[in-house]
Amino acid sequence: MRALSGIKPTGTLHIGNYFGAAKQFEMMQEKSFEGYYFIADCHTLNSYPEPEELTKNTWNIVMDYLAFGLDPDKSVIFLQSQVPEVVELAFILGNYTPMGLLQRAHSYKDKTAKNEAVNVGLFYYPLLMAADILLYKSNVVPVGKDQKQHVEIARDIAEKFNLHYQKDVFVLPEPYIPEDVAIVPGTDGQKMSKSYGNTIEMFAEMSTIKKQIMGIVTDSTPLEDPKDPETCNVYNIYKLFVDKERSEDMAQKLRAGGYGYGHAKKELLAAFHEFFEPMRAKRTELEKNRELVEKVLKEGCEKARAVAIETIKEVKKTVGLVGNIY
Ligand code: ADP
Ligand code: TRP
Repeated sequence: MRALSGIKPTGTLHIGNYFGAAKQFEMMQEKSFEGYYFIADCHTLNSYPEPEELTKNTWNIVMDYLAFGLDPDKSVIFLQSQVPEVVELAFILGNYTPMGLLQRAHSYKDKTAKNEAVNVGLFYYPLLMAADILLYKSNVVPVGKDQKQHVEIARDIAEKFNLHYQKDVFVLPEPYIPEDVAIVPGTDGQKMSKSYGNTIEMFAEMSTIKKQIMGIVTDSTPLEDPKDPETCNVYNIYKLFVDKERSEDMAQKLRAGGYGYGHAKKELLAAFHEFFEPMRAKRTELEKNRELVEKVLKEGCEKARAVAIETIKEVKKTVGLVGNIY
């Protein structure tokens, strides 16, 4: 079974990216899924990133992948833009993609609803993502809930193509979204997202992380009063880091009263530290070893490209394009 996922290099990773997606990458690697994990750099171009920022963020994600446990001997770590076959496949797949399918994509609908200018890159986004998934014949795509629709679109396109040629060229992918982490809440209780400014970063300075945790929005229930853990943002984030026993312990303290949100935030900060410290230490080491990081990416791109070339050959043959130059 092959698992594949990508993260856009648009900033630093936050705990929503980790618990919602990256943790599943690592878990699947342990379960012997063949893993393909990439940095979705082409996907950022529709919002015109500064070139230097894009390059910096790309290297950061490679280091993040390694720091949270992806092992280049077990998983293929690569850069989307270094496998040009993905663009070729997206072009071919466009012909089996009804306009309406892309018009119904949330990313496009949200922008048009706000009367914002939409470029073709944004409209085309789910198609490129379908090519990412189908090129590697991925069975499972671990992502957060916001990406579910995109995986479904990829599946629809694969089905249309297979049906048209009466041939199982593409594997039909399934999203993998564990219910308890499908939408990790941010410091204000909405979905955690870079674009909402409500994140707790994984690899920022501890002083920044402390500020982010201490800034979690809570209600004004006085310290001595009982509190409802279910509506407490601190508790809902704390649950991600600890086992059932420890989370129940905090829930009981909140319900009992005499335990304030400040106390809960301190416990969360300690849990964050305990959980992420080994990954943070590894990340610091990787910063000093650019050579290793470059080697991992170079080898990963070569492995990914070998698979991509095989698929594109098969696709071209299927549709009758005979000009395979490989
Ligand atoms: P952001 O919304 O911060 O820009 P990305 O779009 O780069 O995050 O997301 C990368 C991966 O992390 C995707 O699989 C996405 O579904 C997942 N993810 C992002 N935020 C969350 C969240 N709050 N809860 C669960 N998964 C998330
Ligand atoms: N669209 C995803 C996001 O915004 C990133 C992504 C691009 C992706 N291609 C993918 C995720 C293929 C899974 C599979 O987060």
